[in-house]
Amino acid sequence: MQKTKTYGHLHLLFEYTGEPTLLIRAHLRDRRNEAHCPSKKMAETFTSLLTKQLNEALAQSSVASDLPDDFNADISPAQNTQFGDYQANAAMVLAKRVGKNPRELAGEIVELFETEGLCEKPEIAGPGFINFRISGEAIESRIGELLKDEERLGVDLVADPQKIVIDFSAPNVAKPMHVGHIRSTIIGDTLSRLARFLGHEVVADNHIGDWGTQFGMILWGWKNLLDQDALKKAPLDEMVRVYKAVNKKQEEDQSLRDICKAELVKLQQGDEENRKIWEECVALSKQGLQEIYGKLDVKFDHWLGESFYNDQLGPLVDELIADGTATESDGAIVIFSDGSLPEKEDPFLKNEDDEWKPQPALIRKSDGGFLYATTDLATIDYRINEFGADEVWYVVGAPQQLHFDQIISISKRRGQKANLKFVPFGSILGKDRKMLKTRDGEVVQLADVLIESVERARLIVEEKNPDLSDDEKTDIATKIGIGSVKYAELSQFRMTDYIFDWDTMLALKGNTAPYLLNAYVRTRAIFRKMGTEFSGVDSLKFTEPAEKAIALKMIQFGEVLPTVLDDFRPNVLAAYLYELATAYHRFWEACPVLKAESDEIRDTRLALCEMTGRVLKHGLGLLGIAVPERM
Ligand code: ARG
Repeated sequence: MQKTKTYGHLHLLFEYTGEPTLLIRAHLRDRRNEAHCPSKKMAETFTSLLTKQLNEALAQSSVASDLPDDFNADISPAQNTQFGDYQANAAMVLAKRVGKNPRELAGEIVELFETEGLCEKPEIAGPGFINFRISGEAIESRIGELLKDEERLGVDLVADPQKIVIDFSAPNVAKPMHVGHIRSTIIGDTLSRLARFLGHEVVADNHIGDWGTQFGMILWGWKNLLDQDALKKAPLDEMVRVYKAVNKKQEEDQSLRDICKAELVKLQQGDEENRKIWEECVALSKQGLQEIYGKLDVKFDHWLGESFYNDQLGPLVDELIADGTATESDGAIVIFSDGSLPEKEDPFLKNEDDEWKPQPALIRKSDGGFLYATTDLATIDYRINEFGADEVWYVVGAPQQLHFDQIISISKRRGQKANLKFVPFGSILGKDRKMLKTRDGEVVQLADVLIESVERARLIVEEKNPDLSDDEKTDIATKIGIGSVKYAELSQFRMTDYIFDWDTMLALKGNTAPYLLNAYVRTRAIFRKMGTEFSGVDSLKFTEPAEKAIALKMIQFGEVLPTVLDDFRPNVLAAYLYELATAYHRFWEACPVLKAESDEIRDTRLALCEMTGRVLKHGLGLLGIAVPERM
């Protein structure tokens, strides 16, 4: 009888340690519950295979006739790998129902359980837990398959690819790019990368704020306060300086407000001079932004800013009036609640003094001006009609929740089928737990953060590796510096208000980019030392627990990755990579590679180094983090 089985799509869960794990664990448990509902198909995993065998054993057991219809044996990662990789509490749950001794029932189930090479004979622990240890052969065979799967590393493509427009970054022209834009840029870019890798068709669209009331101020400032030399040297900075200066002047001189407003009206009416200034302003902004995106390696397919929709706003509002969606109110055009939702969930109502009052969306002011919401409604039409979007993901700060609740609701009311999802995030805090500010109390600028991070990383490289060439130091410092800013963001759940702290995020130990990059560099160092690249293995043979642990961990990549988009949680991927790196450091300490006892053991370990390197590089790449070959 053949003992080992080749499992077509074998992914697994197993013991997790440390804090980030809890998150993965809960997350995977949710996924398994989904797997029980037949509409969602999942690739086979160690969990699903164990569940299947366990259900079969139960069906033959003495409690078979007592099994409730909805009973589904729950397999979960073991709390403690000393006793196994997975565990089931089925015997305890069922014994209680039928009034049996749980350990006895567990014993019966274990005897009926067909391991089929998947695991060793299950063991009973405590009051009646059944523990499973995945067999070395099953893991070896899966790693053998993964080694050949260089491109996907065991990650399946989604069964139903969608066309997804991702709306992220979207800073405002000539206004400082604030912390919210940093988060949006980094999270949105990762979501694009993940969605693409999983097989979706992604349109990354930078919906910049290139039309709006700020232009009144900028136009006046441009004509009266602009320093041409400074503009040439650092256009973004100069525009922001002018914007702020006008802002301040306005506070002192109320009449300036009207003057700026008049400049805005002139622009809107097509005044040639103002139009020209606006165009230059937008062009310079785009150039400056492009530079930052270049540093971050963030790419967009389109930059369809707010101004792109100008011509569509009038007709859209007319259409909304005509079909009854919008109505006139005090000279303005607004959209009220349609009463389809319970009051509590209705974004067009607000509770004031225990009374539900209308909170309409304003789409045309009484002076004829259009609003943010109007543009967003036009943008939805365009994305559906021109891009054929099935979904739109808006990566925008949590304070805009109401705005998106309203426009999403209006879109539904109009019968649009696209699935619009608001992907909010929290704030970045300073060490004082208040909104992050510079020393002078200014808004922190993304460009400055990146420069400082690379400078700080450079110091680390100088200290660790003073003999590298200057170019190499620059390359490594850039990767560590940029990677650290991104990782500090992505290792947190997006709704968390996280504390921005240079020392923590650049530390070589802990859940940081440098720690992960260092693990990758270690996987590479070994091949550099040998002077050859990995050349494949004939067969794998595990002899140490640390080998099996790291192997199980990398097989898990294919299981974790598809879950990351469920609730837009790149931090689940980050936590996974951190655990992989930790397992690798353990393996590295426990298992000599080049000095292994035999060729077979050495080759197995080389394969594990190679695979860890591949998964780390790929996983970090999905977070938008580039890896250096040494550091
Ligand atoms: N420019 C806006 C801001 O800075 C963000 C735009 C988000 N995208 C959108 N479709 N509304 O707040």
